Amino acid sequence: MSQSVSSVSIPSFVNSTQFTRFSIERLIDNSVTDFDLFLDVKSHLILYSGKGYKWSKAELESLINQGHLFFWMKSEDHEIAILYEKMSQLPTVSKQLAPHERLQSIQDIGAAFTRYLYEGEITESVSRKAEELADSIVDCIEEDRGCISSITGLANHDMYTYLHSVRVSAYATAIAAQMGLSRRDDLRNIALGAIFHDVGKSAVPITIINKSGPLLQHEWEKMKSHPIEGLKKIENTVLNHVSREIVLHHHERLNGSGYPDALTEDSLLQEVQIAALADIYDALTSSRSYQNKRTRFEALDFIKTKLLKSDVSTESFKALIECLARPVK
Ligand SMILES: [Fe+2]
Ligand SMILES: [Fe+2]
Repeated sequence: MSQSVSSVSIPSFVNSTQFTRFSIERLIDNSVTDFDLFLDVKSHLILYSGKGYKWSKAELESLINQGHLFFWMKSEDHEIAILYEKMSQLPTVSKQLAPHERLQSIQDIGAAFTRYLYEGEITESVSRKAEELADSIVDCIEEDRGCISSITGLANHDMYTYLHSVRVSAYATAIAAQMGLSRRDDLRNIALGAIFHDVGKSAVPITIINKSGPLLQHEWEKMKSHPIEGLKKIENTVLNHVSREIVLHHHERLNGSGYPDALTEDSLLQEVQIAALADIYDALTSSRSYQNKRTRFEALDFIKTKLLKSDVSTESFKALIECLARPVK
């Protein structure tokens, strides 16, 4: 069929304020659309694919061959459709690379992913991409626990927010594996929780997040709201109890000095304690607007002298050191 999309006018039966055209070319093989798509069949809009529909290349080609150039979607789904496109256009992680190289590419993809995540909601396509990243991180750690040594922490502070989550995820997964957690699902839940751990910061103004110098009281209160805001954001996702605990309690400390619930060691899951250490370690070894990054040795020394037992557990700290001491394969 040679008809071009631009020559197609809106059929009179379609209410153009309620429906918008969605080109079939925007659909990507093996992706899942998290919004309804309707097809024009003899001047009637028929629901073709509901939320959660998975596409294959063969089906897309078949539709185009039958002369269908576009679907219709509800205009109210516009934002979700944009996010779907952004997520499905992110590259996939190449399994050909060695784990330490793959981890670098996961960081790059993760930075773009987190940037989009901060702009929108956690839709089905966002969850699927996060699961793909978490699986890739677990793969890397299972193949070479020492690959976390290749994380350089060289990013400048503008990128810190975006690169931080994947790095925390990699550190936390490696610590957990080193501590003997060997079930893939357990590692995956930690990796996934860490990817989302700071998602609530999207509710905090960027001026507060990047502020150099100490925060004012009201700014600090806003900043401290991010774990609860994060839990709200992941409310309707498939994240399990452990991942949710990581999002809500990664700023809790063993001695009860953390937030939002001032929990103490006995009430903190081991997985949360691991993620908390990973979070602290990445913050210390990264450049941010209010601090220069520390070297690995300086960061470990700081944790050992200032935070051990009061804030972070000895067991997870020991595991972090053991991972970092491993040579990269
Ligand atoms: Fe946080
Ligand atoms: Fe964090």
